[in-house]
Amino acid sequence: MSSLHPHKRYLWGRRQSRPLKPNQKDILNKVWPNVLLELPEGLITDPLKMFSLSYTELWLEIGFGGGEHLVAQAIAHADIGFIGCEPYINGVASLACQIHDQQLHNIRIVKDDARLLVAKLPSNSVGRLFVLFPDPWPKKRHHKRRIIQEASVAEFARILKPGGQFNIATDDQDYASWIQNIMEGNSKFELILGNRIRMTDRPTDWPVTRYEQKGIVQGRVPVYLTYTLKSL
Ligand SMILES: C[S@@+](CC[C@H](N)C(=O)[O-])C[C@H]1O[C@@H](n2cnc3c(N)ncnc32)[C@H](O)[C@@H]1O
Repeated sequence: MSSLHPHKRYLWGRRQSRPLKPNQKDILNKVWPNVLLELPEGLITDPLKMFSLSYTELWLEIGFGGGEHLVAQAIAHADIGFIGCEPYINGVASLACQIHDQQLHNIRIVKDDARLLVAKLPSNSVGRLFVLFPDPWPKKRHHKRRIIQEASVAEFARILKPGGQFNIATDDQDYASWIQNIMEGNSKFELILGNRIRMTDRPTDWPVTRYEQKGIVQGRVPVYLTYTLKSL
């Protein structure tokens, strides 16, 4: 991942759907200077120093969509600093509005491809990583666009702290098998919770996301996987 070429296209999802509403624009402009995390040229040496208050640990959510899960976690864990990474500008604006309404200080947003952020994070710096309902890219010729790849998982192993958690969910059964195969191929991770489980068995410290809810209404069955980074 650190070998990402600066001019190559990495993002395939949409950056924006509808134009932002005037009040969303106002709030975005208001909170932006405090929440935007611009990626530096070089490595980020101490990510927790990028928050105005002090926090015990850093948690990261990749592809937060509308940001509802990230906000719920930030409220439930006021001692944790969160980075949310999402290139979809309407999602970023929605999260900015929630940060404003809830007066949250412990979230920073990177509005870009998560792989650019991850490559800049120091090793052993993240306590918990969420990748919830990543785009499944069901067509075989698009599988290379999936965020879960051997190389990205190796990078996740690098940035996570030993004992750190990696939470992944998908409601695409082919992607679930793909994820499990790749995770099993990385000896640094151990599956501690997961499989095709009933809704009532879903992890309780991980609120339902918007995409998850939509899928359940449409009859899709989510798979929830929790891995831990082995302590050597
Ligand atoms: C299917 S949506 C799920 C959103 C949210 N996690 C949920 O469950 O409601 C996947 C999200 O991942 C984001 N995404 C896609 N590629 C990404 C990347 N390379 N880095 C960060 N986010 C990405 C998309 O913009 C989209 O918002």
